[in-house]
Amino acid sequence: MTTFPHATHRTTTVAARATELSKVYGHGETQVVALDRVSVEFRQGEFTAIMGPSGSGKSTLMHCVAGLDSFSSGSVRIGDTELGTLKDKQLTQLRRDKIGFIFQAFNLLPTLNALENITLPMDIAGRKPDQAWLDKVIEMVGLSGRLKHRPSELSGGQQQRVAVARALASRPEIMFGDEPTGNLDSRSGAEVLGFLRNSVRELGQTVVMVTHDPTAASYADRVIFLADGRVVDEMLHPTADGVLDRMKDFDTKGRTS
Ligand SMILES: Nc1ncnc2c1ncn2[C@@H]1O[C@H](COP(=O)(O)OP(=O)(O)OP(=O)(O)O)[C@@H](O)[C@H]1O
Ligand SMILES: [Mg+2]
Repeated sequence: MTTFPHATHRTTTVAARATELSKVYGHGETQVVALDRVSVEFRQGEFTAIMGPSGSGKSTLMHCVAGLDSFSSGSVRIGDTELGTLKDKQLTQLRRDKIGFIFQAFNLLPTLNALENITLPMDIAGRKPDQAWLDKVIEMVGLSGRLKHRPSELSGGQQQRVAVARALASRPEIMFGDEPTGNLDSRSGAEVLGFLRNSVRELGQTVVMVTHDPTAASYADRVIFLADGRVVDEMLHPTADGVLDRMKDFDTKGRTS
Protein backbone atom coordinates (compact mmCIF):
# COMPACT_ATOMS: atom_id res chain seq x y z
CA MET A 1 0.00 0.00 0.00
CA THR A 2 1.26 3.47 -0.85
CA THR A 3 1.15 6.05 1.90
CA PHE A 4 1.40 9.78 1.58
CA PRO A 5 3.22 11.60 4.35
CA HIS A 6 1.62 14.67 5.85
CA ALA A 7 3.28 17.68 7.36
CA THR A 8 4.33 16.18 10.68
CA HIS A 9 3.67 19.30 12.73
CA ARG A 10 -0.06 18.76 12.40
CA THR A 11 -1.31 16.77 15.33
CA THR A 12 -4.98 17.61 14.98
CA THR A 13 -7.69 15.18 16.02
CA VAL A 14 -8.99 12.84 13.34
CA ALA A 15 -12.68 13.44 12.62
CA ALA A 16 -13.09 10.38 10.39
CA ARG A 17 -10.86 7.59 9.21
CA ALA A 18 -11.14 4.74 6.73
CA THR A 19 -8.71 1.85 7.13
CA GLU A 20 -8.18 -0.72 4.37
CA LEU A 21 -11.71 0.02 3.25
CA SER A 22 -13.04 -2.13 0.41
CA LYS A 23 -16.41 -2.14 -1.30
CA VAL A 24 -17.28 -4.80 -3.85
CA TYR A 25 -20.50 -4.73 -5.85
CA GLY A 26 -21.90 -7.98 -7.25
CA HIS A 27 -19.90 -11.17 -7.68
CA GLY A 28 -18.34 -13.43 -10.28
CA GLU A 29 -17.93 -11.91 -13.71
CA THR A 30 -20.04 -8.86 -12.93
CA GLN A 31 -18.06 -8.03 -9.80
CA VAL A 32 -16.96 -4.40 -9.45
CA VAL A 33 -14.34 -3.40 -6.91
CA ALA A 34 -15.48 0.16 -6.21
CA LEU A 35 -13.03 0.66 -3.32
CA ASP A 36 -9.81 -1.29 -3.02
CA ARG A 37 -8.27 -1.14 0.48
CA VAL A 38 -8.51 2.63 0.86
CA SER A 39 -6.87 4.13 3.93
CA VAL A 40 -7.50 7.82 4.45
CA GLU A 41 -8.11 10.19 7.33
CA PHE A 42 -9.97 13.47 7.60
CA ARG A 43 -8.67 15.76 10.34
CA GLN A 44 -10.78 18.07 12.40
CA GLY A 45 -10.90 21.59 11.05
CA GLU A 46 -9.68 20.58 7.61
CA PHE A 47 -11.34 20.96 4.20
CA THR A 48 -10.67 17.98 1.93
CA ALA A 49 -11.68 17.59 -1.71
CA ILE A 50 -11.97 14.14 -3.28
CA MET A 51 -11.28 14.00 -7.01
CA GLY A 52 -10.75 11.39 -9.68
CA PRO A 53 -12.21 10.11 -12.94
CA SER A 54 -15.84 9.06 -13.23
CA GLY A 55 -16.30 5.65 -11.66
CA SER A 56 -13.13 5.90 -9.55
CA GLY A 57 -15.08 5.41 -6.31
CA LYS A 58 -15.49 8.97 -4.97
CA SER A 59 -19.18 8.75 -4.10
CA THR A 60 -18.76 5.23 -2.77
CA LEU A 61 -15.96 6.35 -0.45
CA MET A 62 -17.99 9.29 0.80
CA HIS A 63 -21.12 7.21 1.35
CA CYS A 64 -19.22 4.49 3.22
CA VAL A 65 -17.38 6.96 5.48
CA ALA A 66 -20.61 8.87 6.14
CA GLY A 67 -22.43 5.71 7.19
CA LEU A 68 -24.85 5.87 4.25
CA ASP A 69 -23.62 2.68 2.66
CA SER A 70 -22.27 -0.64 3.90
CA PHE A 71 -18.76 -1.80 3.01
CA SER A 72 -17.24 -5.21 2.26
CA SER A 73 -14.15 -5.12 4.48
CA GLY A 74 -11.93 -2.78 6.43
CA SER A 75 -13.14 -0.27 8.94
CA VAL A 76 -14.52 3.25 9.26
CA ARG A 77 -14.41 5.45 12.33
CA ILE A 78 -16.26 8.67 12.96
CA GLY A 79 -14.54 10.23 15.94
CA ASP A 80 -14.15 7.34 18.39
CA THR A 81 -16.98 5.29 16.94
CA GLU A 82 -16.33 2.25 14.78
CA LEU A 83 -19.20 2.17 12.26
CA GLY A 84 -18.96 -1.58 11.71
CA THR A 85 -19.98 -2.24 15.33
CA LEU A 86 -23.22 -0.25 15.13
CA LYS A 87 -26.71 -1.59 14.65
CA ASP A 88 -28.94 0.14 12.07
CA LYS A 89 -30.68 2.26 14.66
CA GLN A 90 -27.40 3.41 16.21
CA LEU A 91 -26.04 4.22 12.77
CA THR A 92 -29.10 6.35 11.98
CA GLN A 93 -28.61 8.16 15.27
CA LEU A 94 -24.92 8.75 14.61
CA ARG A 95 -25.67 10.14 11.15
CA ARG A 96 -28.28 12.42 12.62
CA ASP A 97 -26.15 13.68 15.51
CA LYS A 98 -22.65 13.81 14.11
CA ILE A 99 -22.80 14.10 10.34
CA GLY A 100 -24.01 16.83 7.99
CA PHE A 101 -24.79 16.19 4.34
CA ILE A 102 -25.06 18.53 1.41
CA PHE A 103 -26.58 16.82 -1.59
CA GLN A 104 -26.27 18.00 -5.15
CA ALA A 105 -30.04 18.14 -5.54
CA PHE A 106 -30.58 20.31 -2.48
CA ASN A 107 -33.31 18.06 -1.03
CA LEU A 108 -35.27 20.94 0.45
CA LEU A 109 -38.93 20.47 1.35
CA PRO A 110 -41.01 22.77 -0.91
CA THR A 111 -43.73 23.45 1.67
CA LEU A 112 -41.32 24.66 4.36
CA ASN A 113 -39.66 28.06 4.41
CA ALA A 114 -35.87 28.50 4.53
CA LEU A 115 -35.63 28.58 8.32
CA GLU A 116 -37.89 25.54 8.72
CA ASN A 117 -35.80 23.65 6.19
CA ILE A 118 -32.61 24.56 8.05
CA THR A 119 -33.89 23.30 11.40
CA LEU A 120 -35.84 20.31 10.04
CA PRO A 121 -33.29 17.59 10.94
CA MET A 122 -33.13 18.90 14.50
CA ASP A 123 -36.91 19.19 14.71
CA ILE A 124 -37.21 15.55 13.61
CA ALA A 125 -34.64 14.57 16.22
CA GLY A 126 -36.53 16.56 18.85
CA ARG A 127 -33.48 18.70 19.55
CA LYS A 128 -33.53 22.40 20.22
CA PRO A 129 -31.11 24.33 18.03
CA ASP A 130 -28.33 26.27 19.72
CA GLN A 131 -29.72 29.71 18.85
CA ALA A 132 -26.39 31.58 18.93
CA TRP A 133 -24.82 29.01 16.62
CA LEU A 134 -27.83 29.02 14.32
CA ASP A 135 -27.73 32.83 14.06
CA LYS A 136 -24.06 32.69 13.21
CA VAL A 137 -24.60 30.08 10.50
CA ILE A 138 -27.52 31.98 8.96
CA GLU A 139 -25.58 35.22 8.98
CA MET A 140 -22.57 33.59 7.41
CA VAL A 141 -24.56 32.10 4.53
CA GLY A 142 -26.25 35.49 4.06
CA LEU A 143 -29.81 34.25 4.39
CA SER A 144 -31.00 36.55 7.18
CA GLY A 145 -33.41 38.40 4.86
CA ARG A 146 -34.74 35.23 3.24
CA LEU A 147 -35.73 33.01 6.14
CA LYS A 148 -39.48 33.18 5.44
CA HIS A 149 -39.10 32.36 1.75
CA ARG A 150 -39.98 28.95 0.40
CA PRO A 151 -37.44 27.16 -1.83
CA SER A 152 -39.42 28.09 -4.98
CA GLU A 153 -38.97 31.76 -4.04
CA LEU A 154 -35.20 31.42 -3.77
CA SER A 155 -32.50 31.34 -6.44
CA GLY A 156 -30.52 28.13 -7.00
CA GLY A 157 -27.55 29.55 -5.10
CA GLN A 158 -29.76 30.60 -2.18
CA GLN A 159 -31.36 27.16 -2.08
CA GLN A 160 -27.93 25.59 -1.99
CA ARG A 161 -26.98 27.92 0.86
CA VAL A 162 -30.06 26.75 2.75
CA ALA A 163 -28.82 23.19 2.23
CA VAL A 164 -25.38 24.16 3.54
CA ALA A 165 -26.91 25.93 6.56
CA ARG A 166 -29.07 22.88 7.26
CA ALA A 167 -26.02 20.63 7.21
CA LEU A 168 -24.20 22.97 9.60
CA ALA A 169 -27.11 23.81 11.90
CA SER A 170 -26.67 20.82 14.19
CA ARG A 171 -22.94 21.54 14.46
CA PRO A 172 -21.92 18.18 13.02
CA GLU A 173 -18.53 16.68 13.69
CA ILE A 174 -18.04 16.30 9.96
CA MET A 175 -19.79 17.56 6.84
CA PHE A 176 -19.91 15.72 3.53
CA GLY A 177 -20.88 17.10 0.15
CA ASP A 178 -21.13 15.15 -3.12
CA GLU A 179 -20.70 17.78 -5.86
CA PRO A 180 -22.33 20.42 -3.63
CA THR A 181 -21.86 23.10 -6.29
CA GLY A 182 -22.51 20.86 -9.30
CA ASN A 183 -25.86 22.51 -10.09
CA LEU A 184 -24.78 26.09 -9.59
CA ASP A 185 -23.44 28.75 -11.94
CA SER A 186 -19.87 29.74 -11.23
CA ARG A 187 -20.76 32.77 -9.13
CA SER A 188 -23.23 30.96 -6.86
CA GLY A 189 -20.80 28.05 -6.73
CA ALA A 190 -18.02 30.36 -5.58
CA GLU A 191 -20.30 31.74 -2.87
CA VAL A 192 -21.12 28.33 -1.51
CA LEU A 193 -17.47 27.23 -1.67
CA GLY A 194 -16.40 30.41 0.09
CA PHE A 195 -18.93 29.68 2.77
CA LEU A 196 -17.73 26.10 3.19
CA ARG A 197 -14.17 27.37 3.52
CA ASN A 198 -15.27 29.97 6.08
CA SER A 199 -17.07 27.32 8.09
CA VAL A 200 -13.72 25.51 8.31
CA ARG A 201 -11.62 28.62 9.00
CA GLU A 202 -13.98 30.48 11.31
CA LEU A 203 -16.14 27.80 12.88
CA GLY A 204 -13.60 24.97 12.94
CA GLN A 205 -15.83 22.65 10.91
CA THR A 206 -14.52 19.58 9.09
CA VAL A 207 -15.59 19.34 5.45
CA VAL A 208 -15.17 16.56 2.87
CA MET A 209 -16.34 17.38 -0.65
CA VAL A 210 -16.44 15.33 -3.83
CA THR A 211 -15.92 17.46 -6.93
CA HIS A 212 -14.95 17.30 -10.59
CA ASP A 213 -14.06 20.96 -10.69
CA PRO A 214 -10.40 22.00 -10.15
CA THR A 215 -11.49 25.50 -9.11
CA ALA A 216 -13.83 24.07 -6.48
CA ALA A 217 -11.02 21.80 -5.27
CA SER A 218 -8.71 24.81 -4.89
CA TYR A 219 -10.90 26.04 -1.99
CA ALA A 220 -9.87 22.95 -0.02
CA ASP A 221 -6.82 22.47 2.20
CA ARG A 222 -5.93 19.26 0.42
CA VAL A 223 -7.08 17.07 -2.43
CA ILE A 224 -7.22 13.28 -2.39
CA PHE A 225 -7.10 11.68 -5.84
CA LEU A 226 -8.80 8.37 -6.49
CA ALA A 227 -8.34 6.08 -9.48
CA ASP A 228 -9.82 2.60 -9.86
CA GLY A 229 -10.95 2.52 -6.24
CA ARG A 230 -7.56 3.46 -4.79
CA VAL A 231 -6.05 6.61 -3.35
CA VAL A 232 -3.30 7.39 -5.84
CA ASP A 233 -2.20 10.86 -4.82
CA GLU A 234 -2.66 13.72 -2.41
CA MET A 235 -2.06 17.44 -2.88
CA LEU A 236 -1.74 19.95 -0.04
CA HIS A 237 -2.65 23.62 -0.54
CA PRO A 238 -4.04 22.90 -4.02
CA THR A 239 -4.30 25.47 -6.78
CA ALA A 240 -6.77 25.12 -9.67
CA ASP A 241 -3.88 24.89 -12.17
CA GLY A 242 -2.03 22.30 -10.10
CA VAL A 243 -5.16 20.17 -9.82
CA LEU A 244 -5.89 20.53 -13.53
CA ASP A 245 -2.37 19.34 -14.39
CA ARG A 246 -2.78 16.35 -12.11
CA MET A 247 -6.12 15.50 -13.75
CA LYS A 248 -4.60 15.68 -17.25
CA ASP A 249 -2.12 13.12 -16.05
CA PHE A 250 -5.00 10.72 -15.38
CA ASP A 251 -6.31 11.27 -18.90
CA THR A 252 -2.99 10.59 -20.61
CA LYS A 253 -2.67 7.35 -18.66
CA GLY A 254 -6.05 6.36 -20.06
CA ARG A 255 -7.54 5.95 -16.63
CA THR A 256 -10.77 7.74 -17.36
CA SER A 257 -13.56 5.23 -17.62
N1 LIG B 1 -25.06 -0.04 -6.86
C1 LIG B 1 -24.02 -0.37 -7.63
N2 LIG B 1 -23.95 -1.60 -8.18
C2 LIG B 1 -22.88 -1.96 -8.93
N3 LIG B 1 -21.84 -1.17 -9.18
C3 LIG B 1 -21.86 0.06 -8.66
C4 LIG B 1 -22.95 0.54 -7.86
N4 LIG B 1 -22.67 1.80 -7.48
C5 LIG B 1 -21.48 2.11 -8.02
N5 LIG B 1 -20.98 1.07 -8.74
C6 LIG B 1 -19.69 1.03 -9.44
O1 LIG B 1 -18.67 1.35 -8.52
C7 LIG B 1 -17.68 2.17 -9.13
C8 LIG B 1 -17.50 3.44 -8.33
O2 LIG B 1 -18.70 4.21 -8.41
P1 LIG B 1 -18.83 5.66 -7.76
O3 LIG B 1 -20.26 6.05 -7.89
O4 LIG B 1 -18.24 5.63 -6.41
O5 LIG B 1 -17.92 6.53 -8.74
P2 LIG B 1 -17.61 8.09 -8.73
O6 LIG B 1 -16.14 8.26 -8.62
O7 LIG B 1 -18.45 8.77 -7.73
O8 LIG B 1 -18.04 8.51 -10.21
P3 LIG B 1 -18.76 9.85 -10.75
O9 LIG B 1 -17.67 10.87 -10.86
O10 LIG B 1 -19.25 9.43 -12.11
O11 LIG B 1 -19.87 10.23 -9.81
C9 LIG B 1 -18.14 2.39 -10.57
O12 LIG B 1 -17.46 1.49 -11.41
C10 LIG B 1 -19.61 2.06 -10.54
O13 LIG B 1 -20.06 1.56 -11.77
MG1 LIG C 1 -20.09 10.15 -7.85
